Amino acid sequence: PTDVKRICCIGAGYVGGPTMAMIAAKCPDIRVDVCDINQPRIDAWNSDELPVYEPGLDEVVAGARGKNLFFTTAVEESIAAADLIFVSVGTPTKSYGIGAGRAADLCYIESAARMIAENANGPKIIVEKSTIPVRTAEAIRTILAANSENGQFQVLSNPEFLAEGTAVEDLEAPDRILIGGERTPEGDAAVESLVRVYANWVPRERILTTNLWSSELSKLVANAFLAQRISSINAISALCEETGADVDEVARAIGSDSRIGPKFLKASVGFGGSCFQKDILNLVYLCDHFGLPEVAKYWNSVVTMNDWQKERFSTRIVKTLFNTVRGKRIGVLGFAFKKDTNDTRESAAIYVCRDLLLEGANIALYDPKVPVSTIRADLNYVGISDEVIDKQLTICDSAVEATKAAHGVAVLTEWDEFKTLDFDTIYDNMFKPAFVFDGRNILPHDELRAKGFEVYAIGKG
Ligand code: NAI
Repeated sequence: PTDVKRICCIGAGYVGGPTMAMIAAKCPDIRVDVCDINQPRIDAWNSDELPVYEPGLDEVVAGARGKNLFFTTAVEESIAAADLIFVSVGTPTKSYGIGAGRAADLCYIESAARMIAENANGPKIIVEKSTIPVRTAEAIRTILAANSENGQFQVLSNPEFLAEGTAVEDLEAPDRILIGGERTPEGDAAVESLVRVYANWVPRERILTTNLWSSELSKLVANAFLAQRISSINAISALCEETGADVDEVARAIGSDSRIGPKFLKASVGFGGSCFQKDILNLVYLCDHFGLPEVAKYWNSVVTMNDWQKERFSTRIVKTLFNTVRGKRIGVLGFAFKKDTNDTRESAAIYVCRDLLLEGANIALYDPKVPVSTIRADLNYVGISDEVIDKQLTICDSAVEATKAAHGVAVLTEWDEFKTLDFDTIYDNMFKPAFVFDGRNILPHDELRAKGFEVYAIGKG
Protein backbone atom coordinates (compact mmCIF):
# COMPACT_ATOMS: atom_id res chain seq x y z
CA PRO A 1 0.00 0.00 0.00
CA THR A 2 1.09 3.55 -0.63
CA ASP A 3 0.36 6.77 1.18
CA VAL A 4 -0.19 8.51 -2.16
CA LYS A 5 -3.91 8.96 -2.81
CA ARG A 6 -4.00 11.72 -5.41
CA ILE A 7 -1.59 12.43 -8.22
CA CYS A 8 -1.49 15.52 -10.39
CA CYS A 9 0.56 15.64 -13.57
CA ILE A 10 1.41 18.99 -15.15
CA GLY A 11 1.75 18.46 -18.90
CA ALA A 12 -0.51 16.14 -20.94
CA GLY A 13 1.87 15.45 -23.82
CA TYR A 14 3.53 12.36 -25.27
CA VAL A 15 4.95 11.53 -21.84
CA GLY A 16 2.39 12.87 -19.33
CA GLY A 17 -0.64 11.32 -21.09
CA PRO A 18 0.55 7.73 -21.54
CA THR A 19 2.52 7.47 -18.26
CA MET A 20 -0.37 8.75 -16.16
CA ALA A 21 -2.85 6.54 -17.99
CA MET A 22 -0.69 3.54 -17.07
CA ILE A 23 -0.36 4.59 -13.42
CA ALA A 24 -4.14 5.04 -13.22
CA ALA A 25 -4.73 1.67 -14.87
CA LYS A 26 -2.37 -0.11 -12.47
CA CYS A 27 -3.31 1.78 -9.30
CA PRO A 28 -7.12 1.87 -9.08
CA ASP A 29 -6.92 3.37 -5.57
CA ILE A 30 -5.06 6.47 -6.73
CA ARG A 31 -6.87 9.30 -8.45
CA VAL A 32 -4.79 10.77 -11.27
CA ASP A 33 -5.43 14.22 -12.78
CA VAL A 34 -3.52 15.00 -15.98
CA CYS A 35 -3.45 18.77 -16.49
CA ASP A 36 -2.51 20.99 -19.35
CA ILE A 37 -2.91 24.65 -20.26
CA ASN A 38 -3.65 23.61 -23.83
CA GLN A 39 -7.46 23.26 -23.98
CA PRO A 40 -7.67 21.52 -27.40
CA ARG A 41 -5.17 18.93 -26.17
CA ILE A 42 -7.24 18.22 -23.06
CA ASP A 43 -10.40 18.05 -25.19
CA ALA A 44 -8.69 15.51 -27.41
CA TRP A 45 -7.67 13.38 -24.41
CA ASN A 46 -11.33 13.41 -23.40
CA SER A 47 -12.51 12.38 -26.87
CA ASP A 48 -12.28 9.22 -28.99
CA GLU A 49 -9.45 10.73 -31.01
CA LEU A 50 -6.52 10.94 -28.56
CA PRO A 51 -3.85 13.55 -29.35
CA VAL A 52 -1.11 10.90 -29.13
CA TYR A 53 -1.09 7.84 -31.36
CA GLU A 54 0.43 4.80 -29.66
CA PRO A 55 -0.50 1.15 -30.21
CA GLY A 56 -2.64 0.00 -27.30
CA LEU A 57 -3.05 3.43 -25.73
CA ASP A 58 -6.75 3.84 -26.57
CA GLU A 59 -7.59 0.76 -24.48
CA VAL A 60 -5.51 1.83 -21.48
CA VAL A 61 -7.10 5.28 -21.46
CA ALA A 62 -10.62 3.96 -22.01
CA GLY A 63 -10.22 1.55 -19.08
CA ALA A 64 -9.43 4.26 -16.52
CA ARG A 65 -10.79 7.56 -17.86
CA GLY A 66 -13.67 8.92 -15.82
CA LYS A 67 -12.96 6.37 -13.03
CA ASN A 68 -9.62 7.38 -11.53
CA LEU A 69 -8.06 9.13 -14.56
CA PHE A 70 -9.08 12.68 -15.45
CA PHE A 71 -7.82 15.08 -18.10
CA THR A 72 -8.37 18.69 -17.16
CA THR A 73 -7.24 22.29 -17.51
CA ALA A 74 -7.97 22.93 -13.83
CA VAL A 75 -4.29 22.84 -12.88
CA GLU A 76 -4.65 24.91 -9.70
CA GLU A 77 -7.30 22.72 -8.08
CA SER A 78 -5.48 19.55 -9.05
CA ILE A 79 -2.24 20.80 -7.50
CA ALA A 80 -4.01 21.73 -4.29
CA ALA A 81 -5.63 18.31 -4.00
CA ALA A 82 -2.59 16.18 -4.86
CA ASP A 83 -0.04 14.47 -2.60
CA LEU A 84 2.33 13.90 -5.45
CA ILE A 85 2.84 16.12 -8.51
CA PHE A 86 4.59 15.01 -11.68
CA VAL A 87 6.06 17.76 -13.84
CA SER A 88 5.99 16.55 -17.43
CA VAL A 89 6.16 19.75 -19.43
CA GLY A 90 8.35 20.24 -22.51
CA THR A 91 12.04 21.12 -22.21
CA PRO A 92 12.93 22.05 -25.80
CA THR A 93 16.27 23.38 -26.97
CA LYS A 94 16.52 27.07 -26.25
CA SER A 95 16.10 29.13 -29.40
CA TYR A 96 17.19 32.51 -28.05
CA GLY A 97 19.76 34.21 -25.83
CA ILE A 98 22.40 32.47 -23.74
CA GLY A 99 22.92 28.86 -24.80
CA ALA A 100 20.65 29.23 -27.86
CA GLY A 101 20.66 26.08 -29.98
CA ARG A 102 22.09 23.94 -27.17
CA ALA A 103 20.81 24.59 -23.65
CA ALA A 104 17.41 23.35 -22.49
CA ASP A 105 14.71 25.99 -22.25
CA LEU A 106 13.46 25.71 -18.67
CA CYS A 107 10.69 28.31 -18.91
CA TYR A 108 7.90 25.69 -18.73
CA ILE A 109 9.57 23.98 -15.78
CA GLU A 110 9.84 27.28 -13.95
CA SER A 111 6.22 28.22 -14.62
CA ALA A 112 5.12 24.79 -13.37
CA ALA A 113 7.20 25.24 -10.20
CA ARG A 114 5.67 28.66 -9.56
CA MET A 115 2.18 27.29 -10.12
CA ILE A 116 2.88 24.55 -7.57
CA ALA A 117 4.21 27.07 -5.04
CA GLU A 118 1.14 29.25 -5.41
CA ASN A 119 -1.40 26.48 -5.08
CA ALA A 120 0.19 24.03 -2.68
CA ASN A 121 -1.58 24.02 0.66
CA GLY A 122 0.33 21.28 2.43
CA PRO A 123 3.25 18.88 2.01
CA LYS A 124 3.82 17.74 -1.57
CA ILE A 125 6.18 15.46 -3.39
CA ILE A 126 7.26 17.06 -6.67
CA VAL A 127 8.54 14.66 -9.30
CA GLU A 128 10.58 15.76 -12.29
CA LYS A 129 9.36 13.57 -15.15
CA SER A 130 10.61 15.92 -17.85
CA THR A 131 14.18 15.50 -19.06
CA ILE A 132 16.15 18.34 -17.53
CA PRO A 133 19.74 19.48 -17.07
CA VAL A 134 21.52 18.04 -14.07
CA ARG A 135 20.89 20.08 -10.87
CA THR A 136 17.49 21.43 -12.00
CA ALA A 137 15.93 20.02 -8.83
CA GLU A 138 17.91 22.61 -6.92
CA ALA A 139 16.33 25.44 -8.93
CA ILE A 140 12.85 23.99 -8.42
CA ARG A 141 13.47 23.67 -4.70
CA THR A 142 14.64 27.30 -4.47
CA ILE A 143 11.57 28.59 -6.32
CA LEU A 144 9.26 26.55 -4.10
CA ALA A 145 10.97 27.64 -0.89
CA ALA A 146 10.89 31.32 -1.83
CA ASN A 147 7.25 31.39 -2.89
CA SER A 148 5.35 29.28 -0.46
CA GLU A 149 4.59 29.85 3.20
CA ASN A 150 3.70 26.36 4.31
CA GLY A 151 6.05 24.63 1.91
CA GLN A 152 7.11 21.17 2.87
CA PHE A 153 8.35 19.99 -0.48
CA GLN A 154 10.43 17.05 -1.54
CA VAL A 155 11.74 17.12 -5.08
CA LEU A 156 12.42 13.80 -6.79
CA SER A 157 13.80 12.95 -10.20
CA ASN A 158 12.00 10.17 -12.08
CA PRO A 159 13.01 10.38 -15.74
CA GLU A 160 10.90 8.59 -18.32
CA PHE A 161 12.54 5.98 -20.55
CA LEU A 162 9.58 5.04 -22.76
CA ALA A 163 10.14 5.05 -26.50
CA GLU A 164 7.43 6.50 -28.72
CA GLY A 165 5.79 3.81 -30.84
CA THR A 166 6.14 1.27 -28.01
CA ALA A 167 5.11 3.50 -25.10
CA VAL A 168 2.41 1.20 -23.72
CA GLU A 169 4.66 -1.89 -23.77
CA ASP A 170 7.52 0.10 -22.24
CA LEU A 171 5.32 1.48 -19.47
CA GLU A 172 3.75 -1.89 -18.75
CA ALA A 173 7.08 -3.72 -18.46
CA PRO A 174 9.89 -1.19 -18.09
CA ASP A 175 13.55 -2.30 -18.13
CA ARG A 176 13.88 -0.15 -15.04
CA ILE A 177 12.30 2.71 -13.13
CA LEU A 178 14.78 5.29 -11.92
CA ILE A 179 14.04 7.45 -8.89
CA GLY A 180 16.48 9.98 -7.51
CA GLY A 181 16.00 11.78 -4.23
CA GLU A 182 17.76 13.78 -1.60
CA ARG A 183 19.73 11.53 0.72
CA THR A 184 18.01 12.64 3.93
CA PRO A 185 15.33 10.87 6.01
CA GLU A 186 12.63 13.08 4.41
CA GLY A 187 14.08 12.50 0.94
CA ASP A 188 14.23 8.74 1.50
CA ALA A 189 10.61 8.72 2.66
CA ALA A 190 9.50 10.58 -0.48
CA VAL A 191 11.43 8.15 -2.67
CA GLU A 192 9.76 5.25 -0.88
CA SER A 193 6.31 6.77 -1.54
CA LEU A 194 6.98 6.87 -5.26
CA VAL A 195 8.57 3.41 -5.22
CA ARG A 196 5.35 2.06 -3.75
CA VAL A 197 3.31 3.58 -6.57
CA TYR A 198 5.39 1.76 -9.20
CA ALA A 199 5.60 -1.41 -7.11
CA ASN A 200 1.92 -1.94 -7.93
CA TRP A 201 3.12 -3.49 -11.19
CA VAL A 202 6.90 -3.19 -11.53
CA PRO A 203 9.10 -5.78 -9.75
CA ARG A 204 11.06 -4.14 -6.93
CA GLU A 205 14.43 -5.20 -8.33
CA ARG A 206 13.68 -3.10 -11.41
CA ILE A 207 13.13 0.05 -9.38
CA LEU A 208 16.51 1.76 -8.98
CA THR A 209 17.02 4.55 -6.49
CA THR A 210 19.92 6.99 -6.62
CA ASN A 211 20.80 10.47 -5.51
CA LEU A 212 19.10 13.32 -7.37
CA TRP A 213 21.98 14.29 -9.61
CA SER A 214 22.72 10.74 -10.78
CA SER A 215 19.10 10.31 -11.76
CA GLU A 216 18.86 13.60 -13.63
CA LEU A 217 22.12 12.96 -15.45
CA SER A 218 21.35 9.30 -16.28
CA LYS A 219 18.49 10.30 -18.58
CA LEU A 220 20.73 12.54 -20.68
CA VAL A 221 23.43 9.87 -20.74
CA ALA A 222 21.01 7.11 -21.74
CA ASN A 223 19.83 9.11 -24.74
CA ALA A 224 23.38 10.11 -25.63
CA PHE A 225 24.48 6.44 -25.66
CA LEU A 226 21.46 5.36 -27.72
CA ALA A 227 21.95 8.09 -30.30
CA GLN A 228 25.65 7.39 -30.36
CA ARG A 229 25.04 3.82 -31.50
CA ILE A 230 22.91 5.07 -34.38
CA SER A 231 25.47 7.63 -35.45
CA SER A 232 28.19 4.99 -35.18
CA ILE A 233 26.42 2.52 -37.46
CA ASN A 234 25.41 5.35 -39.81
CA ALA A 235 29.05 6.46 -40.05
CA ILE A 236 29.94 2.89 -41.00
CA SER A 237 27.08 2.80 -43.56
CA ALA A 238 28.89 5.45 -45.58
CA LEU A 239 32.06 3.35 -45.56
CA CYS A 240 30.06 0.27 -46.57
CA GLU A 241 28.71 2.10 -49.61
CA GLU A 242 32.25 2.91 -50.72
CA THR A 243 33.67 -0.55 -50.17
CA GLY A 244 31.00 -3.05 -51.13
CA ALA A 245 30.36 -4.15 -47.56
CA ASP A 246 26.71 -4.48 -46.44
CA VAL A 247 25.88 -2.55 -43.27
CA ASP A 248 23.17 -5.01 -42.17
CA GLU A 249 25.70 -7.86 -42.40
CA VAL A 250 28.25 -5.83 -40.46
CA ALA A 251 25.60 -4.98 -37.82
CA ARG A 252 24.71 -8.65 -37.44
CA ALA A 253 28.35 -9.66 -37.19
CA ILE A 254 29.24 -7.12 -34.51
CA GLY A 255 25.88 -7.37 -32.73
CA SER A 256 26.45 -11.07 -32.05
CA ASP A 257 29.22 -10.04 -29.68
CA SER A 258 27.45 -10.03 -26.33
CA ARG A 259 29.49 -7.01 -25.25
CA ILE A 260 28.00 -5.01 -28.14
CA GLY A 261 24.54 -6.57 -28.44
CA PRO A 262 22.23 -6.60 -31.46
CA LYS A 263 19.78 -3.77 -30.70
CA PHE A 264 19.87 -0.22 -32.02
CA LEU A 265 22.30 -1.04 -34.83
CA LYS A 266 19.98 -0.29 -37.74
CA ALA A 267 21.46 2.12 -40.26
CA SER A 268 19.06 4.74 -41.60
CA VAL A 269 18.58 8.20 -43.02
CA GLY A 270 19.26 9.50 -39.49
CA PHE A 271 17.63 9.60 -36.10
CA GLY A 272 14.85 12.01 -35.22
CA GLY A 273 12.41 12.51 -32.40
CA SER A 274 12.04 15.23 -29.85
CA CYS A 275 14.67 13.87 -27.49
CA PHE A 276 17.95 12.53 -28.87
CA GLN A 277 19.29 15.69 -30.43
CA LYS A 278 17.91 18.00 -27.74
CA ASP A 279 19.29 15.89 -24.90
CA ILE A 280 22.74 15.53 -26.46
CA LEU A 281 22.95 19.26 -27.12
CA ASN A 282 21.96 19.80 -23.52
CA LEU A 283 24.71 17.40 -22.37
CA VAL A 284 27.19 19.19 -24.61
CA TYR A 285 26.18 22.53 -23.12
CA LEU A 286 26.56 21.20 -19.59
CA CYS A 287 30.04 19.84 -20.36
CA ASP A 288 31.12 23.19 -21.75
CA HIS A 289 29.59 24.95 -18.79
CA PHE A 290 31.54 22.79 -16.38
CA GLY A 291 34.80 23.38 -18.26
CA LEU A 292 35.02 20.08 -20.16
CA PRO A 293 35.32 21.08 -23.82
CA GLU A 294 36.81 17.74 -24.93
CA VAL A 295 33.83 15.84 -23.52
CA ALA A 296 31.48 18.35 -25.13
CA LYS A 297 33.15 17.91 -28.51
CA TYR A 298 33.03 14.12 -28.25
CA TRP A 299 29.25 14.03 -27.74
CA ASN A 300 28.56 16.83 -30.18
CA SER A 301 29.99 14.68 -32.97
CA VAL A 302 26.98 12.35 -32.58
CA VAL A 303 24.72 15.18 -33.74
CA THR A 304 27.14 16.30 -36.46
CA MET A 305 27.19 12.77 -37.89
CA ASN A 306 23.39 12.63 -37.84
CA ASP A 307 23.05 15.94 -39.69
CA TRP A 308 25.53 14.70 -42.27
CA GLN A 309 23.64 11.43 -42.77
CA LYS A 310 20.37 13.28 -43.53
CA GLU A 311 22.13 15.65 -45.91
CA ARG A 312 23.96 12.75 -47.59
CA PHE A 313 20.61 11.12 -48.31
CA SER A 314 19.09 14.21 -49.99
CA THR A 315 22.30 14.72 -51.97
CA ARG A 316 22.20 11.10 -53.11
CA ILE A 317 18.69 11.54 -54.47
CA VAL A 318 19.61 14.67 -56.43
CA LYS A 319 22.84 13.17 -57.80
CA THR A 320 21.17 9.94 -58.82
CA LEU A 321 18.37 11.76 -60.63
CA PHE A 322 20.99 13.14 -63.03
CA ASN A 323 21.86 16.12 -60.81
CA THR A 324 18.47 17.76 -61.13
CA VAL A 325 15.13 17.24 -59.47
CA ARG A 326 13.66 20.53 -60.58
CA GLY A 327 10.05 19.96 -61.63
CA LYS A 328 10.37 16.21 -61.02
CA ARG A 329 7.93 14.39 -58.83
CA ILE A 330 9.40 12.53 -55.86
CA GLY A 331 7.13 10.18 -53.92
CA VAL A 332 7.94 10.42 -50.23
CA LEU A 333 6.74 7.59 -48.01
CA GLY A 334 6.58 8.47 -44.35
CA PHE A 335 6.95 11.70 -42.41
CA ALA A 336 6.82 10.58 -38.74
CA PHE A 337 10.23 10.25 -37.08
CA LYS A 338 9.64 6.52 -36.64
CA LYS A 339 6.86 4.02 -37.23
CA ASP A 340 3.80 3.69 -34.98
CA THR A 341 3.75 7.31 -33.86
CA ASN A 342 2.21 10.52 -35.19
CA ASP A 343 5.12 12.53 -33.74
CA THR A 344 7.27 14.33 -36.32
CA ARG A 345 9.52 16.38 -34.06
CA GLU A 346 13.04 16.46 -35.58
CA SER A 347 12.02 13.81 -38.11
CA ALA A 348 14.67 13.21 -40.77
CA ALA A 349 11.84 13.52 -43.30
CA ILE A 350 11.47 17.24 -42.53
CA TYR A 351 15.04 17.93 -43.57
CA VAL A 352 15.06 15.67 -46.61
CA CYS A 353 11.80 17.23 -47.86
CA ARG A 354 13.17 20.71 -47.22
CA ASP A 355 16.30 19.97 -49.27
CA LEU A 356 14.29 18.50 -52.13
CA LEU A 357 11.80 21.39 -52.18
CA LEU A 358 14.68 23.86 -52.27
CA GLU A 359 16.06 21.93 -55.26
CA GLY A 360 12.73 22.56 -57.00
CA ALA A 361 11.29 19.04 -56.69
CA ASN A 362 7.57 18.38 -56.48
CA ILE A 363 6.90 16.13 -53.52
CA ALA A 364 3.97 13.74 -53.27
CA LEU A 365 3.86 12.65 -49.66
CA TYR A 366 2.05 9.91 -47.80
CA ASP A 367 2.13 9.12 -44.08
CA PRO A 368 -0.52 6.93 -42.45
CA LYS A 369 -0.78 8.97 -39.21
CA VAL A 370 0.61 12.48 -39.58
CA PRO A 371 -1.98 15.21 -40.29
CA VAL A 372 -1.46 17.71 -43.11
CA SER A 373 -1.39 20.64 -40.69
CA THR A 374 1.62 19.13 -38.88
CA ILE A 375 3.50 18.55 -42.13
CA ARG A 376 2.94 22.13 -43.21
CA ALA A 377 3.94 23.55 -39.83
CA ASP A 378 7.12 21.44 -39.75
CA LEU A 379 8.16 22.63 -43.20
CA ASN A 380 7.35 26.23 -42.31
CA TYR A 381 9.56 25.84 -39.27
CA VAL A 382 12.58 24.93 -41.42
CA GLY A 383 12.03 27.92 -43.68
CA ILE A 384 9.75 26.60 -46.44
CA SER A 385 7.09 29.19 -47.27
CA ASP A 386 3.39 28.45 -47.72
CA GLU A 387 3.80 29.54 -51.32
CA VAL A 388 6.39 26.83 -52.01
CA ILE A 389 4.33 24.27 -50.09
CA ASP A 390 1.17 25.11 -52.09
CA LYS A 391 3.05 24.86 -55.34
CA GLN A 392 5.36 21.88 -54.77
CA LEU A 393 3.82 19.62 -52.13
CA THR A 394 0.90 17.24 -52.57
CA ILE A 395 -0.38 15.16 -49.65
CA CYS A 396 -1.68 11.77 -50.77
CA ASP A 397 -4.05 9.23 -49.24
CA SER A 398 -1.99 6.18 -50.08
CA ALA A 399 1.56 5.11 -50.83
CA VAL A 400 0.64 4.01 -54.34
CA GLU A 401 -0.90 7.40 -55.09
CA ALA A 402 2.26 9.14 -53.87
CA THR A 403 4.40 7.16 -56.28
CA LYS A 404 2.30 7.87 -59.39
CA ALA A 405 4.24 9.57 -62.19
CA ALA A 406 7.24 9.87 -59.88
CA HIS A 407 10.86 9.92 -61.00
CA GLY A 408 11.94 8.62 -57.64
CA VAL A 409 10.48 7.22 -54.43
CA ALA A 410 12.05 7.80 -51.02
CA VAL A 411 11.16 5.79 -47.91
CA LEU A 412 11.72 7.98 -44.86
CA THR A 413 9.73 6.18 -42.12
CA GLU A 414 9.75 2.41 -41.57
CA TRP A 415 5.94 1.93 -41.46
CA ASP A 416 5.21 -1.80 -41.85
CA GLU A 417 2.72 -1.20 -44.67
CA PHE A 418 5.55 0.00 -46.95
CA LYS A 419 7.16 -3.45 -46.93
CA THR A 420 4.32 -5.08 -48.84
CA LEU A 421 3.14 -2.50 -51.34
CA ASP A 422 1.97 -3.39 -54.82
CA PHE A 423 5.38 -2.81 -56.36
CA ASP A 424 4.29 -3.93 -59.87
CA THR A 425 1.72 -1.14 -60.06
CA ILE A 426 4.17 1.34 -58.59
CA TYR A 427 6.77 0.38 -61.19
CA ASP A 428 4.31 0.69 -64.06
CA ASN A 429 3.21 4.13 -62.89
CA MET A 430 6.70 5.60 -62.49
CA PHE A 431 9.04 7.30 -64.94
CA LYS A 432 11.95 5.11 -66.01
CA PRO A 433 14.52 4.52 -64.74
CA ALA A 434 12.35 4.01 -61.64
CA PHE A 435 14.55 5.01 -58.73
CA VAL A 436 13.91 3.91 -55.15
CA PHE A 437 15.79 5.38 -52.19
CA ASP A 438 15.25 3.26 -49.12
CA GLY A 439 16.17 5.42 -46.14
CA ARG A 440 15.18 2.68 -43.69
CA ASN A 441 16.33 -0.48 -45.45
CA ILE A 442 12.92 -2.11 -45.14
CA LEU A 443 11.98 -2.83 -48.76
CA PRO A 444 12.69 -6.17 -50.48
CA HIS A 445 15.61 -4.86 -52.54
CA ASP A 446 16.34 -7.97 -54.62
CA GLU A 447 12.69 -8.34 -55.55
CA LEU A 448 12.54 -4.67 -56.56
CA ARG A 449 15.66 -4.97 -58.69
CA ALA A 450 14.19 -8.03 -60.40
CA LYS A 451 11.15 -5.94 -61.33
CA GLY A 452 13.38 -3.30 -62.89
CA PHE A 453 13.73 -0.70 -60.12
CA GLU A 454 17.04 1.06 -59.52
CA VAL A 455 17.46 0.73 -55.77
CA TYR A 456 19.65 2.82 -53.48
CA ALA A 457 19.79 1.57 -49.90
CA ILE A 458 21.71 2.87 -46.89
CA GLY A 459 25.05 1.17 -46.40
CA LYS A 460 24.81 -1.27 -49.29
CA GLY A 461 27.87 -1.15 -51.51
P1 NAI B 1 4.87 17.62 -25.12
O1 NAI B 1 5.23 18.90 -25.74
O2 NAI B 1 4.15 16.57 -25.90
O3 NAI B 1 4.01 17.88 -23.79
C1 NAI B 1 4.26 18.89 -22.87
C2 NAI B 1 2.93 19.49 -22.44
O4 NAI B 1 3.13 20.37 -21.33
C3 NAI B 1 2.26 20.36 -23.52
O5 NAI B 1 0.99 19.82 -23.83
C4 NAI B 1 2.16 21.74 -22.87
O6 NAI B 1 0.98 22.43 -23.22
C5 NAI B 1 2.18 21.40 -21.40
N1 NAI B 1 2.55 22.51 -20.51
C6 NAI B 1 3.60 23.36 -20.61
N2 NAI B 1 3.61 24.23 -19.59
C7 NAI B 1 2.56 23.92 -18.80
C8 NAI B 1 2.03 24.43 -17.58
N3 NAI B 1 2.64 25.45 -16.95
N4 NAI B 1 0.93 23.89 -17.07
C9 NAI B 1 0.32 22.85 -17.69
N5 NAI B 1 0.77 22.31 -18.83
C10 NAI B 1 1.88 22.83 -19.39
O7 NAI B 1 6.25 17.01 -24.56
P2 NAI B 1 6.61 15.49 -24.26
O8 NAI B 1 7.09 14.80 -25.48
O9 NAI B 1 5.52 14.87 -23.46
O10 NAI B 1 7.90 15.68 -23.32
C11 NAI B 1 7.78 16.14 -21.99
C12 NAI B 1 9.11 15.91 -21.31
O11 NAI B 1 9.40 14.53 -21.26
C13 NAI B 1 10.30 16.57 -22.01
O12 NAI B 1 11.20 17.03 -21.03
C14 NAI B 1 10.93 15.43 -22.76
O13 NAI B 1 12.30 15.61 -22.95
C15 NAI B 1 10.68 14.26 -21.84
N6 NAI B 1 10.63 12.96 -22.49
C16 NAI B 1 9.99 12.78 -23.69
C17 NAI B 1 9.92 11.53 -24.27
C18 NAI B 1 9.21 11.33 -25.57
O14 NAI B 1 9.31 10.24 -26.11
N7 NAI B 1 8.51 12.30 -26.10
C19 NAI B 1 10.52 10.35 -23.62
C20 NAI B 1 11.11 10.64 -22.37
C21 NAI B 1 11.17 11.90 -21.84
